Amino acid sequence: MIHRPRRLRSTPIIRELVAETRIHSDMFIYPYFVVPGKNIVHGIDAMPGISHFSIDELLRNVEKGLKVGVNKVLLFGVGEEKTSDASSSFSDQSIVSTAVRALKKQFGDQLYVITDVCVCAYTTHGHCGILDGPHIHNDQSVEVLAKMALSHAQAGADMVAPSDMMDGRIGAMRTLMDANKQEHTAIMSYSIKFASAYYGPFREAADSAPQMGDRKSYQMDFRNGREAMREAMLDETEGADVLMVKPALAYMDVISKLRENTNLPVACYNVSGEYAMVKAAAAKGWIDEQRIVTETMHGFARAGANLIISYHTRDLLEKKWL
Ligand code: PBG
Ligand code: ZN
Repeated sequence: MIHRPRRLRSTPIIRELVAETRIHSDMFIYPYFVVPGKNIVHGIDAMPGISHFSIDELLRNVEKGLKVGVNKVLLFGVGEEKTSDASSSFSDQSIVSTAVRALKKQFGDQLYVITDVCVCAYTTHGHCGILDGPHIHNDQSVEVLAKMALSHAQAGADMVAPSDMMDGRIGAMRTLMDANKQEHTAIMSYSIKFASAYYGPFREAADSAPQMGDRKSYQMDFRNGREAMREAMLDETEGADVLMVKPALAYMDVISKLRENTNLPVACYNVSGEYAMVKAAAAKGWIDEQRIVTETMHGFARAGANLIISYHTRDLLEKKWL
């Protein structure tokens, strides 16, 4: 007898019946870059379709997105004063906190607001922490990051997402937020964040490239899958609600391994460089964008991602690619 797996692939109906992976619009989170000012919608060169928005324009754009189901957003602040102590990052008047208050006032619980917590767009040197000579002072950085998370929570953020990769930040944030009656604010940790060339376009967008050196003393070495689990388990112990793997495409094995090692929701971040490559090839007519994007998203879900952060979210939902 010959084994015939093709029997279950013979028509669309049977293929749908036996499909192992399904993705849903509810899984997607859409990033936004927010800048000070008014009437600003400024496209980002290396990320076609993605722009910097001033708060007035952000409100308009989010309202449109909500109509097609984009109801979870991740906010990045850009264009604030840069100092060595990153003090503009935790001000209650920061661009992110101001945007959160405006979004929550207009949309309430119709919109789930997540904020990126990191100081690289707020420091003169562009590193994700506070410098002590040539080194990053871990515990001083954690103090500032915790204050930043608290300020976002107090502005009304539903979830904060620390992307700095300092040691002990999840525990410090949880403790500070709880001590200030923000125990309901969730934490999605960028637990496993690799030092990656795939962040290139983002650093232009966020004006957050390090002025000297690189991020290898805090972001992870991409050769290390076991250490990745160690990082994630630490964050789980410290009180993270969601664990994230970033970037996504080159790290599907890490997503899969993490899914097997935790009972928390697992997120992946389909980052700027992954997006830029698809957009560039699609613009040249070298690939079919819709098919590439949906195949990739199914890949993330099959690997074990429960939440997907992606710049493609708007296209996926608006153009009904799912
Ligand atoms: C800042 C931050 C980065 C990204 C998210 N938060 C860049 C970096 O660490 O250099 C990358 C997002 C993307 O590339 O889409 N800590
Ligand atoms: Zn950073």
